[in-house]
Amino acid sequence: MIMRTYPNVILALIILCLSNNKILSHAADTLSPNQTLSGDQTIVSSGGNFELGFFSPGKSSKYYIGIWYGKITEKTVIWVANREAPISDKNSAQLKISEGNLMLVNESQIEVWSTGLSTTDSRSSASAVLLDDGNLVLRQGLGSNSSSPAQYLWESFDNPSHTWMPGGRIGYNKITKKKQSLTSWKNSDDPSPGLFTHEPDLNQSQYVLRRNNSEYWASGAWDGFIFSGIPEMRTARKSGYDYTFVNNENESYYMYKIRDPSLLSRQILDVSGQLKQLMWMGAGWNVYWYQPKQCEVPAYCGEFGVCNEPSFPFCSCLEGFKHRRKDEFMMSPGMGLPQYSRLLRVESRGECKSACSIDCSCTAYAYDEGGCSLWDGGILNLKWVGEGNSSGRTIYIRLSAYSSVFRGQKSDKGVIIGAAVGCSMVVLVMLAVLAAMWERRRRSCGTNKVEGSLVAFKYKDLQNATKNFSDKLGGGGFGSVYRGTLPNSTVVAVKKLESVNQGEKQFRAEVGTIGTIQHVNLVRLLGLCREGKKQLLVYEYLQNGSLDLHLFKADESKVLDWSMRYQIALGIARGLVYLHEKCRDCIIHCDIKPENILLDTDFCPKVGDFGLAKLIGRDFSRVLTTMRGTRGYLAPEWLSGVAITTKADVYSYGMLLFELVSGRRNTELSAYDTANFFPSLAASVTVNRGDILGLLDNSLNGDADEEEVSTICKVACWCVQDDEHMRPPMSRVVQILEGVVAVSLPPIPQGLKVLLAARPEHIVFFTDSTTTAN
Ligand SMILES: *[C@@H]1O[C@H](CO)[C@@H](O)[C@H](O)[C@H]1NC(C)=O
Ligand SMILES: *[C@@H]1O[C@H](CO)[C@@H](O)[C@H](O)[C@H]1NC(C)=O
Ligand SMILES: *[C@@H]1O[C@H](CO)[C@@H](O)[C@H](O)[C@H]1NC(C)=O
Ligand SMILES: *[C@@H]1O[C@H](CO)[C@@H](O)[C@H](O)[C@H]1NC(C)=O
Ligand SMILES: *[C@@H]1O[C@H](CO)[C@@H](O)[C@H](O)[C@H]1NC(C)=O
Ligand SMILES: *[C@@H]1O[C@H](CO)[C@@H](O)[C@H](O)[C@H]1NC(C)=O
Ligand SMILES: *[C@@H]1O[C@H](CO)[C@@H](O)[C@H](O)[C@H]1NC(C)=O
Repeated sequence: MIMRTYPNVILALIILCLSNNKILSHAADTLSPNQTLSGDQTIVSSGGNFELGFFSPGKSSKYYIGIWYGKITEKTVIWVANREAPISDKNSAQLKISEGNLMLVNESQIEVWSTGLSTTDSRSSASAVLLDDGNLVLRQGLGSNSSSPAQYLWESFDNPSHTWMPGGRIGYNKITKKKQSLTSWKNSDDPSPGLFTHEPDLNQSQYVLRRNNSEYWASGAWDGFIFSGIPEMRTARKSGYDYTFVNNENESYYMYKIRDPSLLSRQILDVSGQLKQLMWMGAGWNVYWYQPKQCEVPAYCGEFGVCNEPSFPFCSCLEGFKHRRKDEFMMSPGMGLPQYSRLLRVESRGECKSACSIDCSCTAYAYDEGGCSLWDGGILNLKWVGEGNSSGRTIYIRLSAYSSVFRGQKSDKGVIIGAAVGCSMVVLVMLAVLAAMWERRRRSCGTNKVEGSLVAFKYKDLQNATKNFSDKLGGGGFGSVYRGTLPNSTVVAVKKLESVNQGEKQFRAEVGTIGTIQHVNLVRLLGLCREGKKQLLVYEYLQNGSLDLHLFKADESKVLDWSMRYQIALGIARGLVYLHEKCRDCIIHCDIKPENILLDTDFCPKVGDFGLAKLIGRDFSRVLTTMRGTRGYLAPEWLSGVAITTKADVYSYGMLLFELVSGRRNTELSAYDTANFFPSLAASVTVNRGDILGLLDNSLNGDADEEEVSTICKVACWCVQDDEHMRPPMSRVVQILEGVVAVSLPPIPQGLKVLLAARPEHIVFFTDSTTTAN
């Protein structure tokens, strides 16, 4: 010990003799006047929670003054002083108090950063103190009594970089006109200000995110508890986060605090422009919530992908799903590209490709003069413009590692058909490309015309593909469906439409619209055929058939387990959100029932037959008659004659949820055995907090998460309310099933009460014995 300390003491004495300045004592939390900090010296907050000193981020060789957590293994910087003025030699640079300001001087002793207080505001006796909440403050005097915020001359919390700490503020000082906002880092190696900012919206009680000054996301208004656009805050409040919004004549700001001081949590604006609430989980930072969701398509990070901030670019895969990293890319030149979803600043195509590869949600990338563009989820509006066309760009589309890729018969480049497994958008992207390529091939052969990305088939070809419509898959309200195999071995489902009363042009336009709708939870339309009275639609084929086969007719060994049922409920809801809210024209499905829910190899549900009600015409009574067999799913307003809205689908969805729970049809009872009408029973049990698991399909042997069953029953009950205004929109249903929003106890709908009372004459719309309304 003595041998080790002596040299240090001697060195210190020598330096003391050489310099007026005192050397910083170790482990102090304060930098006093005439003290300096350089090299590897740091100051540590009194409780050891935070440390300040020089650091160099990522692969950078430059140095910055920063504050990081003192007690966790992963160096996590929460604040940077000289973001734009890095230092090359930390040993000759100094952080010091000079004329009442905290100042950083570089190797040549020239000021590169300072707290910038004017001479009237500064105090010659000021010192800098690193507080235990991560705030670096400049205050007068040394005594611990001067720690009242009112006496701070300057605080790092008022000058945040990309991190918003608990206790820090994002806001606006109406007197000094100074704004507190976050600015993203340029990249993980460079803390200089990036393109993204997070600022208070001075006009409304919300805050906004901007990219290069243009707003791309708003938090939604402050409702006294949370921002409406961040429903996750509701859950956060329950688990110990307190949020406040203050608006008075002097200032307006937002602040949050965490009740449990041992929890480490921070909010950052990351290099991709996402706002994230992160929480330290012992081994790393976990994302508690993030906004905005980069993609409207569910599962931003791909199915089973996990967002994880410090690992750039912020998506990682859960163990067991790493295979997607092995993905390869298919080069598609001559494409008119959709709007990019994210732009990255990288130096080469290789870096762009690897950024896409390691992000499980990334489905395609392009690298050219425009930089590195990445796409997440489905790619809409991908257009083939021709390889010789100067507006054409080259896009690289990810092929799932598990997809089978095979060549078409003619083309050298190959018509690539991906039969990707799983709920992956890759399938949809490739189908779009497939369609685009088909279009090109057929153009060169001078054959049929195409609507959008849809293929126009000849009747003769579909007749051959389906072996003259011999393999019937099912029948529906709009016509029968047959299995077919195209010449390139793609299996498809061909629907023969009955009684479409539209002109050729309108028909093609409507079908074209349906063809542009792409979502993991919607069955994809591939093509169409219309020759005279013969009208056919060609859809992707889904291996596991429709939900009713699994729910009502399954043999014991193939019973859908509860977690699958829950995922199916969630998937259908997401598909409906897309139809109701995300498409350009709102689409009401009008016929949600298990027969119209198809399941792929992984039992990922896809809603089929959408858009057809519109095709048949606005005369909904017509649809009503074609729905004779599925009355059990019809909302009461179908019979009352009022206009049908998306809430009619919500009702049908609710009825379907009851069937997912019970494993039998709601209508599976004689018209007079109403006491057994399952939805009435389930509503009663749910509302009276009875034996929820007792409602469950017997084949599940009670093996289900009671909380989830209860949630599903409550949601179902809300969905089948008589008054459509009381039914939740599908987006709310998704939030509830995702666990983001809690669901309250519903009232028992009048319609179900009537049935509970077992008075046959009151049975209105659940049995086939009623007549169609006028
Ligand atoms: C700081 O150093 C200057 C000379 O460099 C000296 O005049 C001043 O008294 C010192 N202040 C303190 C508080 O030590
Ligand atoms: C110190 O900063 C000044 C002003 O920014 C600059 O001109 C000078 O080159 C810097 N010195 C070193 C050694 O980088
Ligand atoms: C801090 O203030 C209290 C009373 O407000 C006083 O008793 C105490 O001595 C002060 N401590 C110092 C270090 O000034
Ligand atoms: C928002 O506030 C800014 C400055 O406070 C003002 O210039 C602008 O007109 C306001 N915009 C609206 C829509 O009120
Ligand atoms: C940011 O906006 C400015 C002016 O609007 C523009 O010149 C610049 O190219 C933009 N930068 C990026 C990276 O988009
Ligand atoms: C606003 O500032 C003035 C002057 O500092 C002060 O008197 C007043 O109490 C402040 N108002 C609020 C609501 O804090
Ligand atoms: C290139 O493609 C665009 C968009 O499809 C089209 O308008 C334009 O005429 C094409 N130009 C040539 C030279 O083919």
